[in-house]
Amino acid sequence: MRDAARLIESKTSIRPKVGVVLGSGLGAFADSLIRSVKIPYSEIPGLPVSTAIGHAGQLVIGTQGANGKAAVDVAVMSGRFHLYEGYTPQQVVAGIRLLGQLGVRRVVLTNAAGGINPDYAEGALVLISDHINLQGANPLVGVNNPELGPRFPDMTEAYSAGLRQIARDAAAELEIEIFEGVYAAMLGPSYETPAEIRFLKTIGADLVGMSTALETIAANQMNMEVLGISCVTNLAAGLSGRKLSHAEVLEIGRRVASTFIKLLSGILPRLDSADIA
Ligand code: HPA
Repeated sequence: MRDAARLIESKTSIRPKVGVVLGSGLGAFADSLIRSVKIPYSEIPGLPVSTAIGHAGQLVIGTQGANGKAAVDVAVMSGRFHLYEGYTPQQVVAGIRLLGQLGVRRVVLTNAAGGINPDYAEGALVLISDHINLQGANPLVGVNNPELGPRFPDMTEAYSAGLRQIARDAAAELEIEIFEGVYAAMLGPSYETPAEIRFLKTIGADLVGMSTALETIAANQMNMEVLGISCVTNLAAGLSGRKLSHAEVLEIGRRVASTFIKLLSGILPRLDSADIA
């Protein structure tokens, strides 16, 4: 991973303190950066080689917010690795660990999720207040590398309350409605059954998805602050009377993308200027 950090630092003089992981459909955000350097994951040592077609990701380092607005340097992972693709838990978090090694202290994790909380309509944007990891995996299993952080990291405030407040302030200024809720992480790739959704609701989940939890664990171990934002692309299984389709998930994601990106663009400069713990 050291080699990867050195390689990236040789390609740009930008040293971002803020990182972003883009869920599917949000790639346009990375294209909006200026002074940007794009490095395909395939060129970065330590990152897994993507096998999925159309999922080839890239790391984009650049500056967001030109023409007079507050600017912020960011490192953006455009595309992420999922357990359901067959990657190991350690491979899933390799990008997050790389961000940490590059000096990123705050990371925004975005994703698409099914809505369990009845307050959420399709297209709702939700700040993740906490997660329930039901993926049956943890990236910290195995020999602990003390350089990354503690063997038993605290997860009491895995999703920073301070960053959520910053996000709520940005959303209010932009007049974008935003919710808050608990994210249940499932392995996938099949969607949940209605019985599983009733179970998730019972145990306190508001959202369900197939990513983010392992990345949050790895980020917390490295003492990075996490802001998680979900886009509700569908009501969870059994709640709408309709079957779930990936095409529909993508379609709603596309429809909300511009609002999601607007919110992200409003939040990021505030993350840079607010005191970094
Ligand atoms: N379940 C799990 N993951 C998801 C969903 C869902 O309903 N929608 C988008 N990602």
